[in-house]
Amino acid sequence: MKLYIGSDHGGYNLKQKIKEVFTPMGYEFEDVGTDSTESCDYPVFASKLCEKVLAEPDGKGILVCGTGIGMSIAANKFKGIRASHCTDTFAARMTREHNNSNVLCLGERITGQDLAIDIVEIWLKTPFSNGERHLRRLDEIKAIEDRQSDK
Ligand code: RB5
Repeated sequence: MKLYIGSDHGGYNLKQKIKEVFTPMGYEFEDVGTDSTESCDYPVFASKLCEKVLAEPDGKGILVCGTGIGMSIAANKFKGIRASHCTDTFAARMTREHNNSNVLCLGERITGQDLAIDIVEIWLKTPFSNGERHLRRLDEIKAIEDRQSDK
């Protein structure tokens, strides 16, 4: 499975750890940057990643910053992105089953490495439930996006 991954300086070390753990499991990462812990701006990398995720029918990506919050705010500005900032495994499972989340956001300064790895694993392995009520709610989100782009 191909995945996009990106971070700012605050999420760089956790991003490296995620690639180190999941690459041997068969996941292929395209890293959109940043490439060091030198200070940079998270919206730049959220944008690069979201454009790539949206260019594929079932694209998925992981964004890491210090808190996971800035990345999720920036990513959710993109029509079609359902970015979920998760700090526990229950949220990671639910956001795949119910929200069909296509971008996972993590905070390196909030979530310890081992827990973050568990969150990624559950988020990657949990399918969307395809339930009628969840599809209806996702359609309602699409309708919000459409109303916003008319403005
Ligand atoms: C960078 O210091 C920090 O603001 C950033 O990584 C992120 O936490 C923003 O939400």
